[in-house]
Amino acid sequence: MNGAAAQVQADLDRLLPLLDASLTAPFQGGEAIRLGEAVRYSLEAGGKRVRPVLCLLAAEAVGGTADQALPGALALEYVHTYSLIHDDLPAMDDDDLRRGRPTNHKVYGEGHAILAGDALLTEAFGVLAAADLDPIKRAEALALLAEGAGWRGMAGGQALDLEGEKLDRYDLDHLRLIHRLKTGALLRASLEIGAVMGGAAPAEQAALRAYGEAIGLAFQIQDDILDATATDADLGKRAGKDAGRGKITYPSLLGLDGARTALSEATETALCHLAILPHHHSLAAWARYLAQRAK
Ligand code: IPE
Ligand code: IPE
Ligand code: MG
Ligand code: MG
Ligand code: MG
Repeated sequence: MNGAAAQVQADLDRLLPLLDASLTAPFQGGEAIRLGEAVRYSLEAGGKRVRPVLCLLAAEAVGGTADQALPGALALEYVHTYSLIHDDLPAMDDDDLRRGRPTNHKVYGEGHAILAGDALLTEAFGVLAAADLDPIKRAEALALLAEGAGWRGMAGGQALDLEGEKLDRYDLDHLRLIHRLKTGALLRASLEIGAVMGGAAPAEQAALRAYGEAIGLAFQIQDDILDATATDADLGKRAGKDAGRGKITYPSLLGLDGARTALSEATETALCHLAILPHHHSLAAWARYLAQRAK
């Protein structure tokens, strides 16, 4: 294991128990039993937990604690899991495998999969609204979540991604825009929400926004590369589907070598923004690790 991977593993060993202890709590009991089951099915399937862990690390990077940022971390994993359930629907990417399991709609049907996404998105705002936090910071965190998830963020990017399937010409600027929105916006929000909840100074907040923006782009470039190079078993989702669906991706536009160059450029950009943070060792390791991840 190299240094970055060892640091990432140490962070996961420390932080995943904190997340796992609360992740499904809002979705236990209740009247709509099958909907609760559908939500827990996707949350409990695993996933790398990149966004919530980055949120907790951002809080620590500015001198706060992981406990302080926990409601933000949960909110991010709820929004992310909802985005995956909807991304897999027949009207979107029409996938049948996710997090190593049949996709939500294959098990619970399309109606329940749509509603499971709705429930997750709504609960994300609920858990953050209930956070024990200075009201101004709480409002800031909620606004950042709305920006990252909504039509100026993930939802908007997903729309451009769908529209892109029908374009016969596109350029790198348009592709970068799609990736920045569909994936980058929520990753950026993960860092920013952690920063707000951890009590960041304005310059630290800006640095984490810029770092988040850059690793968000890097993350989707690596996702595109893995779609073209890895196996279903590696990824726990179907590999090799972007090309068949006519998706705009970094490998389709720049080739694999060009995509790898763009990935390392985005990673270097992310690293540059960390210098001013008091405790940036983990976030530096995560940027390096995410660029070399195999799943
Ligand atoms: C997959 O995200 C979708 C993208 C935004 C690229 P992840 O690779 O973080 O998925 P999980 O959470 O590990 O399943
Ligand atoms: C998904 O991009 C981005 C989301 C907002 C969910 P992809 O469609 O490439 O994600 P995967 O490859 O299905 O995980
Ligand atoms: Mg998609
Ligand atoms: Mg997809
Ligand atoms: Mg993909």
